[in-house]
Amino acid sequence: MVFSAFLLPALVTVVVALPAFEPGTWKPAGPGDSRAPCPLLNTLANHNLINHNGKNISFAHLNETLGNVVGMEAPLRNAILAGPIQKLGDTFDLHDVALHGDFEHDASLVHDDVATGKQYAPVTVNQTKVVIFKSFSANGKVFTAHDIAAARVSIESDYSSLSDNAVSAGVGEPALVTLAFGSKKDESWVIPVESMLTLLGKERLPNGFVTHDFGLEDLGGLTAEITNDMQAIRAAR
Ligand code: HEM
Repeated sequence: MVFSAFLLPALVTVVVALPAFEPGTWKPAGPGDSRAPCPLLNTLANHNLINHNGKNISFAHLNETLGNVVGMEAPLRNAILAGPIQKLGDTFDLHDVALHGDFEHDASLVHDDVATGKQYAPVTVNQTKVVIFKSFSANGKVFTAHDIAAARVSIESDYSSLSDNAVSAGVGEPALVTLAFGSKKDESWVIPVESMLTLLGKERLPNGFVTHDFGLEDLGGLTAEITNDMQAIRAAR
């Protein structure tokens, strides 16, 4: 995913009334189903909120689902969908976004990098990486911006260079999960470890999930906090 658009100043918030969603029975991908290296897109498919087979997903329907299920305000979801993902046309299969380069990047939290000589990155979760990520929660209960920053610094330290997209998306992706499935306490966003890992490791909506709205300004604030924390962690080494 390309995240530079997310860091633009917040646009005028457009309030759009969208219908409440029905979570649908969770069922993992079966043989022949298409899946992405994105835990959120796979979760939506696993819950039948977009086509369960992961094929022929319309961007119009995905846009609506990102609003009424994930709680993303219109300017934010429009910003994501206005990125390089548009190259895919009006509809896409989830596996299309595993194409390394424009959307898929190295240094993921819970996925392996694209193998040498391959065009498409793996879409299955590396559960060892999930356990490693879990260990970055300082109190074992929630992930804070600082915990996410520590995880990103650790992952990125294995690379001599990374694309700008890998660096910005590496911060933006867990920030989005925190905004959608976490909550704001004392001006800071936190997300229960259980919720983060249910989404990333099981590709399932966290138990008791209730949609709340968030937008570009929230994403800009949280990504800035994580990025600043990353700089502070590196400077203290
Ligand atoms: C149009 C919407 C979206 C598209 C097309 C998309 C696409 C992608 C792609 C291609 C990746 C792979 C990046 C990599 O190489 O690691 C990815 C990763 C990820 N996405 Fe999405 N995504 C979308 C929306 C979201 C949303 C709304 C969330 C959270 C609420 C989310 C959470 C994540 C996370 C956490 C990862 C990182 C997984 C990892 O590091 O292993 N995505 N997404």
